[in-house]
Amino acid sequence: MFCILCLGIFLFLRMLAKGVLRMLSFAYKQMVYKGIRPDNFTYPSVLKACGEQLDLGFGMEIHKSINASSLEWNLFVQNALVSMYGKCGEVDTARNIFDKMPVKDDVSWNSIISGYASKGEWGEAFKLFESMRESGVELNIITWNTIAGGCLRTGNYEGTLKLLCQMRMSGNRLDPVAMIIGLGACSHIGVLKLGKEIHGLAVRNCFVEYINVKNALINMYCRCGDLMHAYILFQSVEAKTTITWNSMISGYAHWDRYEEASFLFREMLLGDIEPNYVTIASILPLCARMANLQHGKEFHCYIT
Ligand SMILES: *[C@@H]1O[C@H](CO)[C@@H](O)[C@H](O)[C@H]1NC(C)=O
Ligand SMILES: *[C@@H]1O[C@H](CO)[C@@H](O)[C@H](O)[C@H]1NC(C)=O
Repeated sequence: MFCILCLGIFLFLRMLAKGVLRMLSFAYKQMVYKGIRPDNFTYPSVLKACGEQLDLGFGMEIHKSINASSLEWNLFVQNALVSMYGKCGEVDTARNIFDKMPVKDDVSWNSIISGYASKGEWGEAFKLFESMRESGVELNIITWNTIAGGCLRTGNYEGTLKLLCQMRMSGNRLDPVAMIIGLGACSHIGVLKLGKEIHGLAVRNCFVEYINVKNALINMYCRCGDLMHAYILFQSVEAKTTITWNSMISGYAHWDRYEEASFLFREMLLGDIEPNYVTIASILPLCARMANLQHGKEFHCYIT
């Protein structure tokens, strides 16, 4: 009976989709009702579901039951609690549990750092990252990416690149997320050489086919002023998204290449790609300055 219930919960998690939490909560209650004690495996699974579904109420109910059990200080259970509270936006509660943990591993650190990151509290996330390094716990790629992404968001572009460099030196391979972050930093400070290195890495690791990586590359080449390479990449994308078009159009616009920008904008419309506010924001300044009034009027019509 125990195994079947456990398996039931496990299978529920596997096919976790919206609405499943209710069933899970039912299964959990049945289990408790039948006098079966949840263990260090079931608690984290149920807490994970609570975090994903942002169901703080049920999460707290589970926490209460953990408090009453002998699993209060189990590492896996504690990690799951920190993560659940962090995901539900209760970062202070998460921090409280984290601070009291007698043993912490990379998952514990990562959960609390992500909690602050998702609230945009980067100052605290960076402080914790430093403490994590001092503690000697091994940094995993998720932590590296979270912190590098935070540096990028807070405008510390040099810091972002330095972190990615340290990440590689500590034996981690840059994944597509790290590459997109790195390319973003290169675009902002215009370091084409480093951007090209990341491009090389992306090619060698076959990440260049990911549309998000390609868009980031187009953007990087544009911002660094290498419009030719950007355009070659742009043309090589078979299924261009609005972001792909925006990257190229805003690239031309950024360097005052009105002709190309307006040409691409028309091509985009002819290709039935829906422009968004970013496209308009790139095109609008051109209209004002464009010598070719005919085009200017056309855009104006489109925009209004
Ligand atoms: C779960 O608990 C059992 C018995 O209490 C223990 O043997 C096992 O190592 C624990 N597993 C984890 C992952 O904590
Ligand atoms: C669990 O116990 C801790 C103290 O050990 C307490 O601070 C916390 O409020 C309790 N949580 C719940 C949900 O009962």
